Amino acid sequence: MNTSVQTVRIHRTGGPDVLQMDTLELGPPQAGEVQVEHKAIGLNFIEVYWRTGLYPLPLPSSLGTEAAGVITAVGPGVTGFQVGDRVAYASGPVGAYSTRRNMPAQPLVKLPDGIGFDTAAAIMLKGLTAQYLLRRVYPVKAGDTILFHAAAGGVGLLACQWAKALGARVIGTVSTRAKAELALANGCDEVIVTSEDNTVERVKALTSGKGVPVVYDSVGKDTFVTSLDCLKPRGMMVSFGNASGAVDPVPLGWLAQRGSLVLTRPTLASFTADSAELQESADELFDVVMRGVVKVHINQRMPLADVGRAHELLTSRQTTGCTVLLP
Ligand SMILES: NC(=O)c1ccc[n+]([C@@H]2O[C@H](COP(=O)([O-])OP(=O)(O)OC[C@H]3O[C@@H](n4cnc5c(N)ncnc54)[C@H](OP(=O)(O)O)[C@@H]3O)[C@@H](O)[C@H]2O)c1
Repeated sequence: MNTSVQTVRIHRTGGPDVLQMDTLELGPPQAGEVQVEHKAIGLNFIEVYWRTGLYPLPLPSSLGTEAAGVITAVGPGVTGFQVGDRVAYASGPVGAYSTRRNMPAQPLVKLPDGIGFDTAAAIMLKGLTAQYLLRRVYPVKAGDTILFHAAAGGVGLLACQWAKALGARVIGTVSTRAKAELALANGCDEVIVTSEDNTVERVKALTSGKGVPVVYDSVGKDTFVTSLDCLKPRGMMVSFGNASGAVDPVPLGWLAQRGSLVLTRPTLASFTADSAELQESADELFDVVMRGVVKVHINQRMPLADVGRAHELLTSRQTTGCTVLLP
């Protein structure tokens, strides 16, 4: 039986005004799929890249990759999930900006009782990203000094708390003093306000001229070279996003000149494609959240219908922490 669903789609790329609420008929889940009634939906920067066309999608397209809800139907061949299960996901196919959807069962994770729908929608994508960055790309060790850009943002606030709990000394960057206060209260030992300070000079001053062993950089175009200059020889540049625009092609010689640097450009999908790895990462994430080691700051909550305004706030750097859309 078909059900009417409200889905935010784009029919062309552009500004927030291209986000349009469409009513669609949703059929039953196909083989390998489940139907999920969404209770809360996460907002992520990747949806801006799709909306603007930086990451192309076939149009028209729905958007959204992170949501939590309840399974309302199970398609043929699905094992391990049943109607009524509380679940969340942080993966394509796109379509999380919706009241209800069908999707493959593989990327779903069951929620423990201690994790509510809003929290799950806030942390599945951003928290799993923090997990793979800090635990698997460059495993942060006690005593490391690390640099994390956009420290008051969605990924940033979660990751800086987690890195601190792992024993690191955390240097964050933010654009305003208000964001600096928030970052300092959530894992950062030092904060560089990029509108006032010279990041390379401050990092060098804070590390006795040595630089840091790792930079986590999701700002992209505006910070890439600065980040390389903050690294010590053999340090790792983790370029995991492009909030300020895509990074220009990088001459390999830059890595040699700065002392055999390592450069990686990771994506969450390659760290969660394997079901066992996904479950293990989610277990670790839920554990740090339920123990209060990592506090979840949902600093913006708004109806799904206001998703255009949510995009505006995110791209104009007016959000902090996580944003949750309510269907
Ligand atoms: N590769 C992956 O697996 C992966 C997964 C998740 C997220 N990401 C990336 O991680 C980043 C953070 O995602 P998020 O959803 O948590 O967003 P967010 O950090 O809440 O928002 C982006 C932040 O970037 C900073 N920024 C610097 N220059 C900017 C500019 N020109 N325009 C807009 N923002 C700018 C702003 O902080 P300040 O004002 O303090 O500078 C802004 O608040 C994004 O780049 C995203 O694509 C990557």
